[in-house]
Amino acid sequence: MGFVHNHHAMNILAELRSRFSKALDEFTDDPEPFAEMVRPAQDPRFGDFQANCAMPLAKRAGANPRDLAQQLVDELDILDLCDPPEVAGPGFINLRLRDDWLEAEVNAIGLDEKLGVVPAEKPRKYVVDFSSPNVAKPMHVGHLRSTVIGDALCRVLRALGHDVTSDNHIGDWGTQFGMIIYGYKHFLDHSAYQQDPVGELARLYRFVNTLCDYRGAKEKLPHLEDRLDELKRQLPEAQAEAKADKSHRKKVKRIESEIRDLSGTGERSGEIEQTRSRIQAVESDPALREAIQSHPEIARLVRDETAKLHAGDEENNRLWDEFLPQCIAALERVYERLGVSFDLTLGESHYQPQLAAVVDDLASRKLAVESDGAMCVFIEGNAAPFIVRKSDGAFTYATTDLATIRYRIDELGADAILYVVDARQSEHFDLLFAAARKWGCLDVELTHVTFGTVMGEDGRPFKTRAGDVVGLESLLDQAVAQARKIVDANDDAKPGGAELDDASRAQVAEVVGIGGIKYADLHHNRDSDYIFSWEKMLAKNGDTATYMQYAYARIGGILRKGGVDREQLRSAGERIRLIEPAERALALQICRFPEALEAVAAEYRPNQLTQYLFETANLLSTFYEQCPVLKAEDDSTRNSRLALVDLTGRVIQYGLSLLGIGTCEQM
Ligand code: ARG
Repeated sequence: MGFVHNHHAMNILAELRSRFSKALDEFTDDPEPFAEMVRPAQDPRFGDFQANCAMPLAKRAGANPRDLAQQLVDELDILDLCDPPEVAGPGFINLRLRDDWLEAEVNAIGLDEKLGVVPAEKPRKYVVDFSSPNVAKPMHVGHLRSTVIGDALCRVLRALGHDVTSDNHIGDWGTQFGMIIYGYKHFLDHSAYQQDPVGELARLYRFVNTLCDYRGAKEKLPHLEDRLDELKRQLPEAQAEAKADKSHRKKVKRIESEIRDLSGTGERSGEIEQTRSRIQAVESDPALREAIQSHPEIARLVRDETAKLHAGDEENNRLWDEFLPQCIAALERVYERLGVSFDLTLGESHYQPQLAAVVDDLASRKLAVESDGAMCVFIEGNAAPFIVRKSDGAFTYATTDLATIRYRIDELGADAILYVVDARQSEHFDLLFAAARKWGCLDVELTHVTFGTVMGEDGRPFKTRAGDVVGLESLLDQAVAQARKIVDANDDAKPGGAELDDASRAQVAEVVGIGGIKYADLHHNRDSDYIFSWEKMLAKNGDTATYMQYAYARIGGILRKGGVDREQLRSAGERIRLIEPAERALALQICRFPEALEAVAAEYRPNQLTQYLFETANLLSTFYEQCPVLKAEDDSTRNSRLALVDLTGRVIQYGLSLLGIGTCEQM
């Protein structure tokens, strides 16, 4: 078989699709969508891949789908890769890779440092905006989600040969600085600030924010109570109407749900109770009560401090210069622990000098117009305008984001900009992208990579205890502490006695704990909300990083036990032979690694890779059950299996690393 030695690893699915595309030329002017219908087979009994394009093609042509499938098969130039394709059922085309081809492919991947991943034909310049917390303000788990997802996307896109710039668009110019500056001027605890500046700034933020919030809550409460009374009056009437005419049921539902939101349910408190308890919390705290009385105008004064900062007031800018590096240092600690780094950290403040010009430019092109004293971009089909300058002259989140897009296109040369941000900001991004298009940013992909909310086990958005960066750090500590218990228990239970000393256990626990948190996030469909659960996160068996990390370490264990040196095994270029079905299935999975990365990049979904890795680890266990490695019947089988297992380990390790998750040789 001459092709074995010059066999190049490839993306098999892409290759099959391109073969189909050529054959489909005979049947349609637009083969791509039909070629896309080549998919991995659902059931391995029917082959490795399946093409479902004959049915829709036949329907269009008024032909018999089975006949058309056969004609398509006759056109296909595919027999170097596949056994002769079979037409099945109503016109499915089943494809099974040739065993000799698959063997050549898996061996080629073994010789390839990149495990068969071929660099993109047309590399793109990506700017990925992620993490982007508002500094000096409670950072919530949503920012952790953005950080973990954004980092994984950067790694995968880079592995695919793209040019990626990661940019942490921190909120370093917002109204929180008015709160902190006001707090600093009136409520600072000097010694606390000496000891832990960021902790004290966070306390000041919470303190001032609570005071500002108090007035709002006091004003809102009577309105909420009135609304509830009114709904309760309306309800019986609406119920009577619904009895007479079913079409009124919707209205009853709406009233009931609003009542629930206001007055709560058995498990959940409603908005009224929450507002009351916010008021109560202030009034029952002597320090807060005192502050309320001596700072009745606090909300306005805080706004003034922000305005002074933005207008260039010397003292406020000096304070900002003092606070910012400390806030960033605190963030850095979290990033370092997570193993995340950024090429750029260009926060909102970076764009401030450009904002006036942005609004002027929009106005001169008649894209922004005045409305109630504000400058707005109106977007067709959207009631809410995109406000780029408020009536008091302040620029907005929107203005900054427009300036940022310009910068990323003009200065960074972006072909695509990804925003890894909470789905709750969808409306902002819809308007932003529409406004940017009107402004002439046409040749750039703009994508809001949305994600859902992390929920606590109580069904409410998950909060760290302190709700701030410090809280996030303690969350990571907690993960590592939990992981340590698992690592200890596992090591203590080893049949030959414990293998790890205290320092290595600590190291392993760090990798397992941090990896567990990241994986738990990444393996969900990013659009869905999910419930944060320690137990599920660190399960040794299941769709977890822990499971894969143990799978990886076990491979190292087998090699050590067999006295096999990894480097030697690799450099000997040991041939993998595929005899048993479990060997073939595992090899096929390995060959599909490039496909998994493409799937991540297609819709920016890291869970495509977690799923792939989970399946890989499962196929590896099946392989162990069916194919003895060290006790294989002869040397060449043993060596082939060792090489297969080692290669699987490389796939797991590289795959996890692209998710930002580490592995340990021994655990
Ligand atoms: N700082 C914002 C927040 O915490 C997220 C910023 C996202 N990026 C952007 N370019 N808007 O909600």
